[in-house]
Amino acid sequence: MCGIVGYVGKKKALPIVLNGLKFLEYRGYDSAGVAYLLDNKVNITKEVGRISSLEKLIDLDTPSYMAIGHTRWATHGEPSVSNSHPHQVGRFTVVHNGIIENYLEIKEDLKKKGVKFLSTTDTEVIPALLDYYYKEEKDILKTIKKVLEKLEGSFALGIICDDDKENIYAVRRGSPLIIALSNDGMFIASDVPAILNYTNKYILLEKDEIAKINNNSYQVFDFNLKDIKKEINTFEGSCDDAMLNGYPHYMLKEIHEEEKVFLDTFNYYVNNDSFKETMPDFKKYKNIHIVACGSAYYVGCIAKSLLEEYAMIPTCVEVASEYRYKKNFYNQDTLVIVISQSGETADSLEALRKAKKDGIDTLAIVNVVLSSIAREAKYTLYVKAGPEIAVATTKAFLAQTTLMALLTVKLSRKYELLKEFKGLERKIKELLSKDYLEYAKAIYKCNDTFFIGRLIDYALCLEGSLKLKETSYINSVAFQAGELKHGTISLITKGTPVIGICTNKDIVSKTISNLKEVKARGAYIIYITNEECHDDFYDQLILLPKAHNLVMPILSVIPLQLISYEVAKLRNCDIDKPRNLAKSVTVE
Ligand code: AGP
Ligand code: GLU
Repeated sequence: MCGIVGYVGKKKALPIVLNGLKFLEYRGYDSAGVAYLLDNKVNITKEVGRISSLEKLIDLDTPSYMAIGHTRWATHGEPSVSNSHPHQVGRFTVVHNGIIENYLEIKEDLKKKGVKFLSTTDTEVIPALLDYYYKEEKDILKTIKKVLEKLEGSFALGIICDDDKENIYAVRRGSPLIIALSNDGMFIASDVPAILNYTNKYILLEKDEIAKINNNSYQVFDFNLKDIKKEINTFEGSCDDAMLNGYPHYMLKEIHEEEKVFLDTFNYYVNNDSFKETMPDFKKYKNIHIVACGSAYYVGCIAKSLLEEYAMIPTCVEVASEYRYKKNFYNQDTLVIVISQSGETADSLEALRKAKKDGIDTLAIVNVVLSSIAREAKYTLYVKAGPEIAVATTKAFLAQTTLMALLTVKLSRKYELLKEFKGLERKIKELLSKDYLEYAKAIYKCNDTFFIGRLIDYALCLEGSLKLKETSYINSVAFQAGELKHGTISLITKGTPVIGICTNKDIVSKTISNLKEVKARGAYIIYITNEECHDDFYDQLILLPKAHNLVMPILSVIPLQLISYEVAKLRNCDIDKPRNLAKSVTVE
């Protein structure tokens, strides 16, 4: 997902915009650029690669007091200087996050009218349309409205017009965008960390709202250009949340925050062994659909096991990008739960909207406050993980798993289970203090790795496999332990690492048999288990602290995260910003 930052005010704009873009790097990007007003002209500098490459082309001391910047995650048009943002056509300069779905027809129409295009992006049709309509409208806001009526898709825009040297314009439709307020000037940004060095006061733009900011004031207009009053929010986090604080990578820092994140999330919903009013007393739903993407989907797989085991509620888990298009069987007895760290994942948001349109109750399990999914669901339960910068989710995953375990207790009415969470932070700390380098050394030179487990342990295998793939680029597959011999076992050769997870004594003998089958064919076994399921067939063992099965996934995931981290480090990967990945996939 790209990043947008703009500033207009009393301070020099380029250092502010570039610094802000650096705080958005975690979202993943392939190129960057800035447009800045100097000597009454809008100048553009852009470059492929990292912001540090762009910075080499810029004099940060340039006396410019208005600028917009962008980090691009290419969707249409390869990463190149000409396809980087900002894009300028005639009087208009634009940065864009999202996709213009009808750009081809707009582009063909404008070409027939003589407009020349320099890029192969969808974005370039935006300044082209603005410039085209402005010639007749001569009013910037009316021009923006007219263009919005033409555009289809999800987008956030930052706009500068040559004829207005005072104001930056911003538009939101789908992709997140805020404006932020300080005594030294005003900002636009894709996310709060970009401006936290300057202010924590921000306004969230909603669908089809247009903002106009200048050095000491702002206005927000609705789609009909009516000036509207918006709530000013105060961000609770701090710059520290978005800083490394001595860690080599955000991923490691965030994993080591998991003890606090567990406690913050638990204590937000529970006090003195009983639920606080922060956990709504959900009416008893007869069935649950959990919908999410990526790691959040794997939290859903964990939650399914817990809800069915302890709350006896039939639960199905679906990938959002499938759920939103398929026939769904739900009714007034169904609760649709959407799990999302960012609260902006396009497919998860659209799945939520589909359920709402069908009149089904929805619950959002989200980390980012006031995100789209958080605001559009009927109920919202926040995890208290704080800003998660690394693209690979870790602390948010643990927090979501914690919250889903708490929700299970709530829906089960078996409140005595709350005592199983007591002291879990000490067991988390114990796991965080172990050294996982030896396990990583067994894996990092291999091209293929397998994770096998049963039931809830299989859900952990799915997450462990994704973590390894996305941080170290090693091909990895998670399998239900019983499935391996139905074909895939043919891939096992001498030294192939197989990580086996078993924390349920009721099925331990079967899983150990499966692990012995692969070991007999040369596999290198890393066994993640607890006292109850211990055996001595493995090559390496990770012994988890004793805990109730309800909370065991909160512990099991930690070694998987840290092994992936150590493997990625041994392979000198770009741990916090893995290639091709974005922190939140706001495009479909
Ligand atoms: C997690 O490590 C991945 N980067 C990715 O699978 C992520 O979980 C997925 O994109 C969903 O994001 P969300 O939780 O913000 O909706
Ligand atoms: N679709 C636009 C492009 O490919 C914007 C992508 C983004 O959100 O960074 O340039």
